[in-house]
Amino acid sequence: MTRHFTRRRFLQSACITVGALTMNLTGIEKALAAVTGVGPMASCDVLIIGSGGAGLRAAVAAMKNNPALTVVVVTKAMPSRNATCMAEGGINGVTDFSKGDSYELHCYDTVKGGDYLVDQGSTLKFCELAGPAILELDYLGMPFTRAEDGRVKARPFGGASKVRCNYSADKTGHIVAHVCLDEALTHGVKFLMDHELLDLGVDSGRCEGAVLRNIRTGEISPVRAKAVVLATGGYTRIFWNRTSTPYISTGDGVAAAMRAGVPFKDAEMIQFHPTGVVHGGVLITEAARGEGGYLLNNKGERFMKNYSPSKMELGPRDIVARAIETEIREGRGFGQGLESYVLLDLVHLGKDKIVNDLPQIRHVGKLFENIDLVDKPMIIRPTAHYSMGGIAVDKFDDMSTAMPGLFTAGEASCVSIHGANRLGGNSLADAVVTGKIAGDGASAYASAVGYCAGRHIADLAGRWRSRFKDVTDGGDAGRMYSIREQLGARLWDDMGIFRTGDKLTALTRALVELRSQYDSLRVPNANPVYNSVFTEYVELGNMLQLAQAACLAAAERKESRGAHTREDFPVRDDANFLKHSMVVMDDAGNLKLRWEDVEITKFKPEERKY
Ligand code: FUM
Repeated sequence: MTRHFTRRRFLQSACITVGALTMNLTGIEKALAAVTGVGPMASCDVLIIGSGGAGLRAAVAAMKNNPALTVVVVTKAMPSRNATCMAEGGINGVTDFSKGDSYELHCYDTVKGGDYLVDQGSTLKFCELAGPAILELDYLGMPFTRAEDGRVKARPFGGASKVRCNYSADKTGHIVAHVCLDEALTHGVKFLMDHELLDLGVDSGRCEGAVLRNIRTGEISPVRAKAVVLATGGYTRIFWNRTSTPYISTGDGVAAAMRAGVPFKDAEMIQFHPTGVVHGGVLITEAARGEGGYLLNNKGERFMKNYSPSKMELGPRDIVARAIETEIREGRGFGQGLESYVLLDLVHLGKDKIVNDLPQIRHVGKLFENIDLVDKPMIIRPTAHYSMGGIAVDKFDDMSTAMPGLFTAGEASCVSIHGANRLGGNSLADAVVTGKIAGDGASAYASAVGYCAGRHIADLAGRWRSRFKDVTDGGDAGRMYSIREQLGARLWDDMGIFRTGDKLTALTRALVELRSQYDSLRVPNANPVYNSVFTEYVELGNMLQLAQAACLAAAERKESRGAHTREDFPVRDDANFLKHSMVVMDDAGNLKLRWEDVEITKFKPEERKY
């Protein structure tokens, strides 16, 4: 390595183009091409869409499983610029059994935290794998914060009965993402940088690959793959600027999977993190409370004593977020309207603790609110943070979906570990555990099958090229941004922390209206090069689709469970709704809802008290 061979160059050397993936057809494929009319096409063995922790971990697993495979990661933004970084406070997993913790207890906490909408078989396996996954990250060189004996240090986190949230100051997700990126580069994973997913192709029920758009050049290409892994993250940007997640969290993979016929599971289950920055929604980590921070109302009271007397500020997120909103609604908050807030007080922790263990949120406090947490309480309000719902997984053991050749991992997926409310610290564990399983699963599948002809992706790519021409034929981007802003505001008001049948009915109508405005939308700029307006147009279509699905399931779930609070049905109703919602899109684009049983093995549903 020369003095000038920087990490950036290392990453550049891993980037490829769609052209480089285009190979000559084999004899059989030539014969097939004569029938199908499909010529040479970009192809790879395993196509992973998304470069957060889950996508990168999947890529490493796929390469290690079979180094002869071509494994390509498609990424809309720079790898590591993703929502993985927004899991700041730590990664859950039992690594210390000396104080009575066990995989079973981690599983119990997760099931109870998820308000029993949790498939218990998968969850126990997940907990058994989370501890070893942390040790693996440690082995790979992740700079965890250390206990005095040199072991990885853990801190208390919400809804957990033992201390098992392992951390690197308050930058755990950022560091997990970079460790996974380094591993991917080291193992020869290739990257299609600045590419967005437009659609998936299906051939006789099997996933044949994806249609991608190169954001830099505007080129729209079909890419065949023996196996596709969707690791595109969640969809909390549907709340637009009322979320902690990055601008890219628009649920592109979930939306494409739905259009390809795969169910969207538990769509209505969206997590509101209790402590977002008031102006912007950026995260103030739960670690602030894990380290001893207090929540205070305008009377100076630690109001959590009224909502979660045994856990106080470390109740599960749904309960803490509801408590904050209740304080605001009942006049015990500060500020007005969307700028209402309560206080998160860390001053008593002292400067050393804040500087060493919570440096990032000190920076965020100064940057967004001009508040130094060392001297003054931070002003916070809940923010949309995580999608418990996602692409329905058929089998935890390989993270396959019902569609052969299609796998999924991380926040994009729903393997029903998090149920109706995810525990803080379980998302990073989910990313690395399900990422590895999906990578192994996709790699094994790709090693055993040939390519599909690619007819459908070729056809879809043609349709997207025409759509680009039609949509960019004049128009006004302002209209598009107005739809996006209205979408976020309506969702916050009508499908936010408190929901009612009336609000959801009104929202259903509003979403139909926004959809019809979207369908006639035209945006300026017919130049394909770096046409980010078109990217935003595609993302908005995906967000509208996912919002409609979530609203459908939220309206039909006539109970309160976890993050889904129905003021008109305030009680959990296990008799009728201990079930997963499954929203499916039919060929005409209509959404249909059905229900599926929850897997209960050991832990019988009980009243959730903290
Ligand atoms: O608050 C946090 O640090 C977030 C963690 C998570 O979502 O798992």
